[in-house]
Amino acid sequence: MSHLLQPITIGDTIHLRNRVCMGSMTRNRCTDHSKPTPTVATHYADRARDGTGLIVAEGTFICPHGAEWPNAPVMFDKSHSVAWKMVTDAVHREGGKILFQPWHPGGYTENITEIKDPKAIIEQFRQSVVLAKEAGFDGIELLSQGGYLLHNFLCSHSNLRTDEYGGSVENRCRFPLEVLDAIISVWGPRAVGIKICPSDDYNDTMVSYEELSETYNYFIQALMTRNLGFINLSRRGYDVGRNQDEFFVSKPRPAQYALPPNYEPLKQFGHMIKYPGSTTALMVNHEYTFQEADHLVKSGLIDMPQFARPFIYNPVR
Ligand SMILES: Cc1cc2nc3c(=O)[nH]c(=O)nc-3n(C[C@H](O)[C@H](O)[C@H](O)COP(=O)(O)O)c2cc1C
Repeated sequence: MSHLLQPITIGDTIHLRNRVCMGSMTRNRCTDHSKPTPTVATHYADRARDGTGLIVAEGTFICPHGAEWPNAPVMFDKSHSVAWKMVTDAVHREGGKILFQPWHPGGYTENITEIKDPKAIIEQFRQSVVLAKEAGFDGIELLSQGGYLLHNFLCSHSNLRTDEYGGSVENRCRFPLEVLDAIISVWGPRAVGIKICPSDDYNDTMVSYEELSETYNYFIQALMTRNLGFINLSRRGYDVGRNQDEFFVSKPRPAQYALPPNYEPLKQFGHMIKYPGSTTALMVNHEYTFQEADHLVKSGLIDMPQFARPFIYNPVR
């Protein structure tokens, strides 16, 4: 039997019937004032019915800022959690589990240096995950890559702040860690994970090998002190050599951002997360094939993969 079909428990309470996780994908179908509709519930329930162990729901804006993204979902008042409950119920009826992904666009729409009070945004994250709990989600995947808010704080070229949130590695990691701690204050650490991508190149996020090494050595160490349920490590931005479609085309990295030959984030950072006795599961994503992921689970190098684009299909009923 494939190793991906073995059950696993993420954290202490997220019991999964297998290790196949559907990655978060914005679908732009929340046409009822940025709330999920019955069609959205069907979309996720179909994937659960087809056997997916875990689903990460699409990135969901935690405040009106960014919510102008057409038909992407939001979570900042009771009506939103009520609408999301329809989705989580539908997934649970099919035996699946589903995580909430709080999202703030950050530098995608604004210069983070101009954010006057980061603590106010941290509070918005906290409130959104309170609502996510009411909506019946099984846990949280915090999005900290892709050139959105948390990632803007991590990268030296997008974080020009001169207060305690900018400058040194410790300072640049402070905001994502405070957001994480606010989420943990609601959910506890074990139902919480974070999605990171040291090698990212999406939305102007490329940094040098020296910077990514320094940042993520510190960041992952800090994450691991928090006893999280999982860390989801993406390998976007390094040339997998197998583009599945035109959505993420790996462009060659300019010389100042070059990565060592045969670079893999999993090789550089995997051992910091997955080691004998670690209580934090290691997920990986980005252009994994079933065979490659199966081999990595079998070899004990990861706990489970996420697959995203393979889940864009039309289910047969
Ligand atoms: C249409 C589309 C929308 C996406 N939206 C999100 C999102 O909302 N949040 C997120 O963390 N990743 C998002 N991603 C990235 C995927 O979760 C995943 O990390 C990426 O597609 C690599 O995995 P894959 O090679 O298996 O597709 C999106 C990807 C696609 C193709």
